[in-house]
Amino acid sequence: MVLRCSLCGSRAFTRVRYSRLTLCRRHYAEFFERRVKNTVERYRLFKNVKRLLVCVSGGKDSVAMLYALKPYAEKSNVELLGLTIDLGIGEYSKCSVEAAVEAFKNNDVEYMLVDLSAEYGFDLDTVAENVEKLRMPKGVCSYCGSVKRYIFNKVALDSECDAVATGHNLDDLLSFTLTSMASGQVDLLIKLQPKNRGVDRLVTRIRPLATLTNRETLLYVMSIGASYVDLECPYTPERSMQKTIVEKLSEIEHKYPGFKLALYKSLLRVLRKAEVKTGPLVHCEKCGMPSSTRICSFCRLKSLMTERIGEKTTETRVTARRV
Ligand code: AMP
Ligand code: FES
Ligand code: ZN
Ligand code: ZN
Repeated sequence: MVLRCSLCGSRAFTRVRYSRLTLCRRHYAEFFERRVKNTVERYRLFKNVKRLLVCVSGGKDSVAMLYALKPYAEKSNVELLGLTIDLGIGEYSKCSVEAAVEAFKNNDVEYMLVDLSAEYGFDLDTVAENVEKLRMPKGVCSYCGSVKRYIFNKVALDSECDAVATGHNLDDLLSFTLTSMASGQVDLLIKLQPKNRGVDRLVTRIRPLATLTNRETLLYVMSIGASYVDLECPYTPERSMQKTIVEKLSEIEHKYPGFKLALYKSLLRVLRKAEVKTGPLVHCEKCGMPSSTRICSFCRLKSLMTERIGEKTTETRVTARRV
């Protein structure tokens, strides 16, 4: 028996189990876009935002965010500016940038391409090479995270954007939060929220896909036929606590549809009552950007890497894995 869309009777594309709906491609895309719009409205993500920096890596989440957000931003008079960063991770970065640029062009969104190496004199392959050589205290992804956050904020300030949007989805936010809690980093809990209001020179951050799962986001890009990069960054560890948490939460979600969203909403309520606060910020002595230390983590990394570049001897470029 061919399954049919509950709304129009066309051939079914997927079933949304927690709302007991079977939907065709078109109605699924509309359903997803409505969910994004509801998230923006419910958490007032566009409040005081006239110009929004949309950060697109080329992966399915940020590509989905751009396509789903564009028509609604237009209606709400929010101007979008795209940003994609070429992190210099060989083939992976090349394909990612291509996918991001295609998404900006298809959506008619003006964009900026920041080439980490050209702009700041080092790339992520150099960081990866030196993490082991110098026995640096954190993993590559952690340094990459601070590079991205720094550039998002800097570009937003320089281009007079009121907020920065990233494609973090429900699985990302839950797994990040649970991992932070398991390691005792309770102050990171505030990143669970769909919106973190800006302070000082730290621009407001919004996460329009906060209530949508990995699977829902993947189905959306498939439903609209958007291209995205389906490679995993070669520096992502094969196994990690965060990946295990996503797998386990998805097993529970399969058994109890709607579990992830219910857990997320409850955690937000707990967070509102808990008054988790971040530490005080100072201004980095080198670049003037907000920082929790005298010299910000980006400037420390940049100094270390640009010093090392002259001494670079071996090439340790790795191949991206397909996800
Ligand atoms: P990740 O830190 O890779 O999980 O990415 C989280 C979000 O950050 C993505 O959904 C994008 O919105 C943004 N992002 C990650 N990498 C890039 C990049 N190279 N350029 C622009 N935005 C990015
Ligand atoms: Fe940053 Fe992989 S994308 S380390
Ligand atoms: Zn339909
Ligand atoms: Zn700095």
